[in-house]
Amino acid sequence: MRPLSVLTFLLIASLLLVPWGTSKVQAGNTNETLYNEPYRPQYHFSPQKNWMNDPNGLVYYKGEYHLFYQYNPYGNKWGHMSWGHAVSKDLIHWKHLPVALKEDDLGMIFSGSVVVDKHDTSGFFDGKSGMVAIYTSAGETQQQSIAYSKDNGRTWHKYKGNPVIPNPGIKDFRDPKVFWYDETDQWVMVVAAGDRVQFYTSKNLKDWTFTSEFGADRGAHGGVWECPELFELPVKGNPGETKWVLQVDINPGAVAGGSGAQYFVGEFDGKKFTTEQKDVKWVDYGKDFYATQSWNNTPDRRIWLAWMNNWQYAQDIPTSPWRGAMSIPREVSLKKEDGEYVLLQEPVRELSQLRKNIHTWKNQWITPKTNLLSDIKGETLEIQAEFQLDTAKEFGFKVRKGSEEETVIGYNTDNKTLFVDRTKSGQTDFSEHFPGVYQAKMEPENNTVQLRILVDRSSVEVFGNDGETVLTNRIFPNLKSQGLELFTEGGNVKLKTLKIYHLKSTWK
Ligand code: FRU
Repeated sequence: MRPLSVLTFLLIASLLLVPWGTSKVQAGNTNETLYNEPYRPQYHFSPQKNWMNDPNGLVYYKGEYHLFYQYNPYGNKWGHMSWGHAVSKDLIHWKHLPVALKEDDLGMIFSGSVVVDKHDTSGFFDGKSGMVAIYTSAGETQQQSIAYSKDNGRTWHKYKGNPVIPNPGIKDFRDPKVFWYDETDQWVMVVAAGDRVQFYTSKNLKDWTFTSEFGADRGAHGGVWECPELFELPVKGNPGETKWVLQVDINPGAVAGGSGAQYFVGEFDGKKFTTEQKDVKWVDYGKDFYATQSWNNTPDRRIWLAWMNNWQYAQDIPTSPWRGAMSIPREVSLKKEDGEYVLLQEPVRELSQLRKNIHTWKNQWITPKTNLLSDIKGETLEIQAEFQLDTAKEFGFKVRKGSEEETVIGYNTDNKTLFVDRTKSGQTDFSEHFPGVYQAKMEPENNTVQLRILVDRSSVEVFGNDGETVLTNRIFPNLKSQGLELFTEGGNVKLKTLKIYHLKSTWK
């Protein structure tokens, strides 16, 4: 084709494509993208444009999962923090909605949560049910404020009596997570307060009473505590037993450097959290899983997600016109093993609807010479594998492979560690904190190691042994780097089962 006809062709093609490609993404927004940029997540949530950080206000209400998020409506870096908003019926396909809460005289709108006020305890809803957001007003000081919505989160009214908890003289006082506690018939708030969390209770979401604090002498303390989360879970395999999980983010000082999430397993009586746990437990051993929040009001399971980023380089990751992505929503559960409580995370079952082609293998010996996956290519994959350990020192997968790029996900049998190496994953030079190898101890179970890996255009999430060890990392490979390899070093390993699915984009 001559240059002119190429241009004409592109023009016609884009005219034809634009209305179709965007209609599902967001009605009524004139600044749409086709969700096809080189690093654009294809099945993870990202805003169409501009800066996003923490998930906020996660709540299930009238058939919709709401996802609010820290958002800068004016640019691609942190600032003017507001709550962006999206809804989904299945946690996988998201519809963008207009910005829900904008900065005001009390300051920016920092992180917080949303509850369903079923019995109108707040008096905002004329005896009916409605949604109340509890967030941090971040101005000269940080204080807790509320807003309410009578129309399923579409429009919001800020309460005239804000702030509902004025700053008590603590510099970092933010990120209230609120939930209903049945036994005492009241609302509970857990909120970050410097190097600890504090608990408050309320009958009406407007008047709050301080009840206790936790953490000054527990857990990791390399940085400030942020975005706490508290919920009760049944203990798997032990009918009748439940435990409370307190999740707290820390920045910096997390296990992979920079920001990350730790958790405590213990008891909560409506006013006070206690635990016998002495060691630090990490939610995720990768670099990019922060500000975890779980959905309030889900009937049958506990689901959370996190912002896939790290404050060390969050503002420098090479994406445009948006910056920020969420992890896959994960169902969380708890098990007890050798007297220890262990948190498990697995992608929500709804993800399986994206699977298209599948490749399967069974009971196959893998030697350093085997080249099992040379025909398979993909930028969006779900890999499920079970290995029986043998003589191999190291085995695993190389994903998003190109001539000079690869992200290595492996298991080292000497150290019993699961690791992700992103030193050669693609673009890494935008921050000295980006390239690296991240690892976590993981014992084989009955001499087998199980891996579930989610690969997208710019992320890799690795779930080891039913989600008991998780590593989440962003990567920025060339769009053409789509090769896949199953490798073993220093000996052989037996592949008991392997399933590889290609995943559809949720934005098309
Ligand atoms: C965590 C955080 C929160 C705060 C928000 C501001 O990433 O620092 O503590 O509310 O981001 O955007």
